[in-house]
Amino acid sequence: MPQSVDNALSYSNQWLEIISQKSVDDVQARWIIGESKDNFAEHFNRNWLEYRKSVTEAGDWAAVEWAGSGAIFRDVLGREYLDCLGGYGMMNHGWCHPDVVAAVRAQLARSPMPSQELIDPLRGVLARIMADITPGNLKYSWFAASGTEAIEASIKIAKLYTQKPAFISTVKAFHGKTMGSLSMLGKADYRQPMGALYGGPVYHVPFGDAEAVERQLEICDQIGIGVAGVLLEPIQGEAGAIVPPDDFWPRVRQATQHYGTLLIADEVQTGLGRTGKLWGVDHWNVVPDIIAVAKSLGGGVMPVSAVTTTEEIFQPMMYPNPFMHTTTTGGGALACSAAIASINVTLRDRLWEQAAEKGAYLIPKLEALAEKYPQLFDKITGKGLLIGMHFKSPESGYKVASELFKRGVLVAGTLTSAQTIRVEPPLIIKYAQIDEVLNRLSDVLADIGKTL
Ligand SMILES: Cc1ncc(COP(=O)(O)O)c(C=O)c1O
Repeated sequence: MPQSVDNALSYSNQWLEIISQKSVDDVQARWIIGESKDNFAEHFNRNWLEYRKSVTEAGDWAAVEWAGSGAIFRDVLGREYLDCLGGYGMMNHGWCHPDVVAAVRAQLARSPMPSQELIDPLRGVLARIMADITPGNLKYSWFAASGTEAIEASIKIAKLYTQKPAFISTVKAFHGKTMGSLSMLGKADYRQPMGALYGGPVYHVPFGDAEAVERQLEICDQIGIGVAGVLLEPIQGEAGAIVPPDDFWPRVRQATQHYGTLLIADEVQTGLGRTGKLWGVDHWNVVPDIIAVAKSLGGGVMPVSAVTTTEEIFQPMMYPNPFMHTTTTGGGALACSAAIASINVTLRDRLWEQAAEKGAYLIPKLEALAEKYPQLFDKITGKGLLIGMHFKSPESGYKVASELFKRGVLVAGTLTSAQTIRVEPPLIIKYAQIDEVLNRLSDVLADIGKTL
């Protein structure tokens, strides 16, 4: 496309006008659908359009999302969907939570970004609150926008503190896709095409296998390779809501302490209530050395992530150089206002208890459906409202997701396979809405159970 400043100016004017409108009429809605499809195909990512499993398979890839509230969102034509994907864990609070929106709006009117030179109060407030809500004596925080940045920072902090080069992660782990995080990720699809990754050694062991972690630490010790950190999701999310055996986290905690290795909990998806406890590690009463959190920290309104650790481990981030790891836009006032409000709502409404209770209601009902259709289902996994429906084949998963979408329920495959479908609704989903999801799922299964 040839450069045209004039085109960019008039096109952005057209869209600013639409953004500022309270509603759109049918003609505008159809224009928006056409523009969105063309823009994705021509300038964003053509295959993204084809690839979105539930939407594409349902033959409705023109669905353009527009607005949302609670556990329901609408497309630009006004059709409603029950959200059981929850932005892959970003929507604990549901769409447009009024308290988070109000805080962000107020801060936006005052000052969205800090000068970078004076002290911005909200960054300090959020750091103090993180110290209050994280387990043990975690005390100092660093902020950014995305989960992968929080993992990058965790890697650097662990290296700085331990002065050791290696890491241990797990097969099928998901930690983000920037180069450091990608090195820790446990799926060939994303690692292999990139060739060489992190310069130090990274060992991947099976998730949930405490003995494998212990053995790897022992081998590294025997051959003289220092391990800076063991990085783990409390419950693997992208791998399909995989819950480890109960001895896993406590044994890994003990072994890491023995070898002077930091234990890093990637709570990007599990943090702030999703699994039925405030933190995923709370299921096993384990205190990690570093916690990384993102997604719902922004209340589904702003991108914000945090890494929290002890004063001792944070020392090399402060002295001699306090700018050891920085980002210009991350952790700005707008992001912090969203995080302060999202944590406030989480604590006030005890969202982790809601997740625990609703998960205890939903999971057995899904298990009953899985038993009824053994030709389709392998198993149901998960805790709280981080749930995996595992199918016998990717085809069954695709079919279920697309038929659910046709019936106005959005669920998520893991990134490149529909063999496992994640059910990850906002924690504020109502019981009547859960029942509705179950009704529609029963309907889908009765339909396709005959043919698959
Ligand atoms: C456990 C975990 N860690 C890290 C990430 C990366 O977060 P982000 O996509 O915000 O970079 C994700 C994203 O799905 C995740 O689930």
